[in-house]
Amino acid sequence: MAIRKIRLEGDDILKKRSREVEEIDEKIQILIDDMIETMHKYNGVGLAGVQVGVLKRVIVIDLYDEHGPIVLLNPVIIKTKGEQEVDEGCLSFPNQFAKVIRPAEVVAEYTDREGKRMRVKAKELLAQVISHEVDHLNGEVFMDKIIPGTLEYIEPEK
Ligand code: NI
Repeated sequence: MAIRKIRLEGDDILKKRSREVEEIDEKIQILIDDMIETMHKYNGVGLAGVQVGVLKRVIVIDLYDEHGPIVLLNPVIIKTKGEQEVDEGCLSFPNQFAKVIRPAEVVAEYTDREGKRMRVKAKELLAQVISHEVDHLNGEVFMDKIIPGTLEYIEPEK
């Protein structure tokens, strides 16, 4: 496994749409492992392929709870319900946080790393993270949808 370089604000790749994963081959498995390791290294709760420079519809999520890391290939949000106003950040926008409106609940379908099609019903933080990461796959970043006046810069603890 390896830590991959995270693409940062200003990198045009973040505006590009990612392509479907067609075959879950060894290259994809290595990408998934590297993305999980990279997310953990930077204490992120989610990471999309585009953020490590790979335009494939791959997301990893870890809420650091009993479920462990979740891998979503070709995720599709099929239903949303309600709204939640949440504080949000992104590993591609270090030290920047703002308020965003996200769905309160999402139902998403995705393929897991074994190739099985799955469905998840998510609320609260998981709904927020799935929504944020699927946006990345469509070339959208949270900074484009923040509530005006809520952006804060927070220096990391040394
Ligand atoms: Ni992000």
